[in-house]
Amino acid sequence: ISLALTSLALAFSANTALASCDAGERVVKFSHVTGGTTHPKVVAANNFAERVNKEMNGKLCVEVFPNSTLFGDSKELEALLLGDVQLLAPSLSKFGSYTSKYGVFDLPFIFKDMDHAIRFTNTAEGKKLLTEMDEYAGFVGLGYWMSGMKYFSANKQLTLPNDAKGLKFRVQTSDVAKQMISAMGASPQAMSFSEVYGALQTGVVDGQENTWSNIYTKKFYEVQDSVTETNHQLLAYLFMTSSDFLNSLSDEDRAQFMKIADDVTQEANLSVKAKEAANRANILKAGGKINTLTADQLKVWVDTMQPVWSQFESDIGKDLIKAAAGA
Ligand code: LMR
Repeated sequence: ISLALTSLALAFSANTALASCDAGERVVKFSHVTGGTTHPKVVAANNFAERVNKEMNGKLCVEVFPNSTLFGDSKELEALLLGDVQLLAPSLSKFGSYTSKYGVFDLPFIFKDMDHAIRFTNTAEGKKLLTEMDEYAGFVGLGYWMSGMKYFSANKQLTLPNDAKGLKFRVQTSDVAKQMISAMGASPQAMSFSEVYGALQTGVVDGQENTWSNIYTKKFYEVQDSVTETNHQLLAYLFMTSSDFLNSLSDEDRAQFMKIADDVTQEANLSVKAKEAANRANILKAGGKINTLTADQLKVWVDTMQPVWSQFESDIGKDLIKAAAGA
């Protein structure tokens, strides 16, 4: 009981998005793993809840559970299929057991920046990937939410990939990410997001790779020497629900729900760059250290990771890689 109370208290203190639902309203649970108040996913999830709760008042009541308080990485997709939760926004790097196609989003240096990634999601190939999960027992992709580009941090300064030799890095459950770490001469360890801070603090791993928003809101900079501005990979989410849930809504309610999902997705992607920039500044303000790279140094990172593309060419598909790179 005390454990349950603690996690409930955490959910309340970490976020105010637990709505008080009225009798007769259908509760719709949105579970995610990120935290703080300035994180793009936190803001988008709360915006979505706020809009549904206002515009569909009396019908639906969205409750947001951040910080892995309801489900963490390893359980959330299964929970969606079981109907224990109705909305998720997992990283595209966490679908490896369902599809290898999302590996395209993980290829190192394939996207120059988030604008490039957004352009790709608007192509025919990118749109098709949005529904890639739908054939799996009833997942429904509602939209891509960009989170940011990623940067390496470690318990020592990383200037060139060689500096990472022999170190252990936490990665998401992505085969592409694992190969990328191996290409640096380091070893990858897949781990749930909720365990990363503790693993960095106790030395279970030496480093990690993430966005400014995750590094700031989860305080990774506190337990790392510094963050290096590698810009090597994209972090983006699949905002998703289940077909069971969608099909249970009336045609009118479903259309309204989907329209809000679309609006919130567009708004989130428009504001994500500013949120990332603000959290980069927040890291510096809080005493975190950021290393910038010269063009020559950056080129060494690009060249070191380039072989990963051909390793996944047959899994992901040559045409898809070409479409993403050229978007
Ligand atoms: C991670 O596991 O590092 C990220 O996917 C967490 C998140 O949802 O931003």
